[in-house]
Amino acid sequence: MTVDTTGHILDVRGVQKRFGGVVALHDVALALRPGERHAVVGENGAGKSTLMRIVAGILAPDSGEVLIDGQPVGRGATAALDAGIALVHQELSLVPELSVAENIDLGNCPTRYGFVRRREQREHARAALAEIGVDLDLSEPVGRLSVAARQFVEIARAVARRPRVLILDEPTATLTPSETSHLLGLLGRLSDQGIAILYISHRIPEIFELCESATVLRDGHLVARPDLADITGDELVDLMVGRELAKDLRTERRERAPGEVVLRARDVSAAKVRHVDLEVRAGQIVGLGGLVGSGRSEIVRAVVGADPRTSGTVELRTGDQEWTPLRSYARAVRLGVAYVPEERRAEGLALGMTVADNIALPSRGRLNRLGVMRHAAMASLAQDVIGRVGLQPPRPRHEAGQFSGGNQQKIVIGKWLAGSPRLVVLDEPTRGVDVGAKAEIHQLVRELADDGAAVLLVSSDLPELLDLSDTVHVVRDGRVVGTLGSQDATESAVMRLAAGKEEQIV
Ligand SMILES: Nc1ncnc2c1ncn2[C@@H]1O[C@H](COP(=O)(O)OP(=O)(O)OP(=O)(O)O)[C@@H](O)[C@H]1O
Ligand SMILES: [Mg+2]
Repeated sequence: MTVDTTGHILDVRGVQKRFGGVVALHDVALALRPGERHAVVGENGAGKSTLMRIVAGILAPDSGEVLIDGQPVGRGATAALDAGIALVHQELSLVPELSVAENIDLGNCPTRYGFVRRREQREHARAALAEIGVDLDLSEPVGRLSVAARQFVEIARAVARRPRVLILDEPTATLTPSETSHLLGLLGRLSDQGIAILYISHRIPEIFELCESATVLRDGHLVARPDLADITGDELVDLMVGRELAKDLRTERRERAPGEVVLRARDVSAAKVRHVDLEVRAGQIVGLGGLVGSGRSEIVRAVVGADPRTSGTVELRTGDQEWTPLRSYARAVRLGVAYVPEERRAEGLALGMTVADNIALPSRGRLNRLGVMRHAAMASLAQDVIGRVGLQPPRPRHEAGQFSGGNQQKIVIGKWLAGSPRLVVLDEPTRGVDVGAKAEIHQLVRELADDGAAVLLVSSDLPELLDLSDTVHVVRDGRVVGTLGSQDATESAVMRLAAGKEEQIV
């Protein structure tokens, strides 16, 4: 496919990139006019992040070139930054111990005689935050901020460099709807100033709201470069997956008759959790809605025993009339609790281990006989799970760390499907997962409930939360502030409860 390059600020030509046997990018071109708002879309593993990292000089291509104003950009991230290309990463790259101000200035410090001038640094950071319309304490260590706030610090850092091309790799995955519209408004204004925006997201409505044009990648190939005014969301999805899938994605929600109470939590308190009561029945999906930072993750962590509780009891039904207290996370896992955490890279996956080994971890007990892992059983388990979650590429012997972001999430979910969990706790299970895989994961969650598992779900994706849950508890400030049945759970009802009176950014 050839791309007309007249009047372009950015030109990417003939980019090839291979990782061992995997061709991540195959002769890909990309061109942007000043102020153009351009989406890069494709399924998990299509090559989006790889292409962006090459444009930003973080990764060297095997061949091909990146030009700004017709001039080749030198190798390396610094050269790309100097040429005006700034990247906001998919996995955040801030230093948790450093303050907001220090992070915004990272690698961009006003120095004199080798000293960082703190006053200048703070002024600079203050201006950058003001520009993006976000109010944060400049001296707060970034590690103490919510994920959403960290995301805005990362964006402030990129904007502070006055880039000519601003790349954002799934920036809204951790944002609430109001934070997302704040960001989209900001990006619109930056593009009016002539900054070209390269925007990666799996959320189709967002892409249409912000972008004029898109590059569609499929298996590392550039398959289309549509003007978004000319096509529908379903047509864009069909281009991404290469078949008519969009209409298969709509699933009917089914009424389920819940069984006995499986999880019983009474008066649970912990850091950021205040006196929470919860019950989940067999075959029931209970959703926790609320803003990012409202304490939903803390509630589920306290429930499964991943974080210490300061009060309350949590019990799991382990027999007809038998209840077992959940005192520690290790115990919970032994009793059949499956927990998919929010921070999948840190907690959910052993990145250096193979897919097959990761999948076998929770099922160790079953697979171990006389202390010897049954390799054949392990291999067939891995094959089964890989098929069920649609892992790409479907390679059980590859290290988990080599998979794209969305595929890593599939491995985390897949490893819990292998057992037959009594209670499944999912925290943002489809963050960063592409449309097709998301529908597959939703189906898997429903199947788990249909097979009798009790499911506790945290999701900031409102359509997902409303679609899957039989009951939604809305959380604010670590408390349940309202409960909605599937009939009255609407997006606005959840958001009203979640926001309390006033709604604010970060
Ligand atoms: N460091 C690496 N080592 C080996 N393979 C890699 C590495 N980085 C990426 N890949 C492979 O390159 C391909 C493209 O990955 P990439 O991360 O660019 O996908 P993506 O489109 O960003 O997906 P996602 O939507 O899941 O973020 C995938 O097959 C991935 O497994
Ligand atoms: Mg990616």
